[in-house]
Amino acid sequence: MLAKEIEKELNVQINKELYSAYYYVAMAAWAENKSLNGVANFFKIQAQEEMAHVQKFYHYLNERGGRVILEAIDKPPVEYKDVEDIFALALKHEQYVTQRIHGLVDLAIKENDHATKTFLDWFVTEQVEEEASMDDILQKIKMIGASGHGLFMIDTQLAQKSAGASAEGE
Ligand code: FEO
Repeated sequence: MLAKEIEKELNVQINKELYSAYYYVAMAAWAENKSLNGVANFFKIQAQEEMAHVQKFYHYLNERGGRVILEAIDKPPVEYKDVEDIFALALKHEQYVTQRIHGLVDLAIKENDHATKTFLDWFVTEQVEEEASMDDILQKIKMIGASGHGLFMIDTQLAQKSAGASAEGE
């Protein structure tokens, strides 16, 4: 059986992952409204990945005899300044999620829950990739600019991202 505190925090994490998906769908919707279909594509796929994270926590909780309890999801922002703003916010959000995952690992260690610690290892690695992917795009935007030709190039590159591929569409 899972410790009550771990069960509670895994449910909080499900809510955070759902919010991540919601946040990225909001970013995709903003981008699509601006005809930035590549940026929209990137964030739609990112949102799907967040839903896959939700599923991992959902299955793990059930496997360990815990209960999945869904709480309300916060409303994400509707408006964003520009594409640089979006990627800066997405990076900040991923850094927040990383902090939360590390907090969960600390809790699993404190509770001597080896199974949960091992389960969370995948997320520790995943967060390194998530942050790197957002940061990489943000740095490129800063280099070539988020308007005119630079924006067109970024949007074209992000249109190539497909489900299961890296942020660069590789
Ligand atoms: Fe589920 Fe992007 O972290």
